[in-house]
Amino acid sequence: MDVEFVEQSIDLPTGPLRVLQLRESAELPDVGDVEWAPVAPYWSVLWRSGVALARELDRVDLGGLRLVELGCGLALPSVAAARAGATVLATDACQEALTVAERNARLNDVVIETATVDWASPDVLVERGRFDAALAADVLYERQSVHPLIQLLPRLAREAWIADPGRPAAEVFLEQAADRWTIETQVRGVIRIHHLTPVPASRSA
Ligand SMILES: C[S@@+](CC[C@H](N)C(=O)[O-])C[C@H]1O[C@@H](n2cnc3c(N)ncnc32)[C@H](O)[C@@H]1O
Repeated sequence: MDVEFVEQSIDLPTGPLRVLQLRESAELPDVGDVEWAPVAPYWSVLWRSGVALARELDRVDLGGLRLVELGCGLALPSVAAARAGATVLATDACQEALTVAERNARLNDVVIETATVDWASPDVLVERGRFDAALAADVLYERQSVHPLIQLLPRLAREAWIADPGRPAAEVFLEQAADRWTIETQVRGVIRIHHLTPVPASRSA
């Protein structure tokens, strides 16, 4: 095994998920409900939101669905969704994250596709055609991400699952998203999972 990486095992309802993580990130102290990891690349941290969204998706039959994950980092939700039967495209602005995401998929005997995508210039992703759902875990930690994601999601997918630990930018995002999506929120410990679906035609008319 590569000394740069450590393997973690994450309990999901249908069985453990194996995850490779940079050793330097695995050794960070885990304190506070809302995590910050200023000394490690963000993609390399096992964020609670990614774990919670993977657990959530593990409970759902995703057979036949085509999903995209934004800001995937280690890509736990993508790997769990692929294990639940979905065809998954995992994306991140950081190529290094995608290399590890692919390794994580192989470690769990599933296949995911990956692509380098920045939310600020997503046309190449939108051109792939609409997905059944978009996934995103802990991507709303900066106010500047709200606008590109509010613009992108409706172009990208029919619905979205967004996991968040209660970051202020996520509140701003949800206020704006409520104009065009119905939002159902499940609380899973310190993480909230927001399921965005289109508002019924009668409400949007
Ligand atoms: C806090 S980490 C969360 C990673 C993963 N979703 C999880 O929950 O473990 C944020 C991720 O978003 C990615 N990211 C940040 N800004 C981005 C952008 N403008 N476009 C695409 N990805 C971005 C980072 O590279 C990082 O992987």
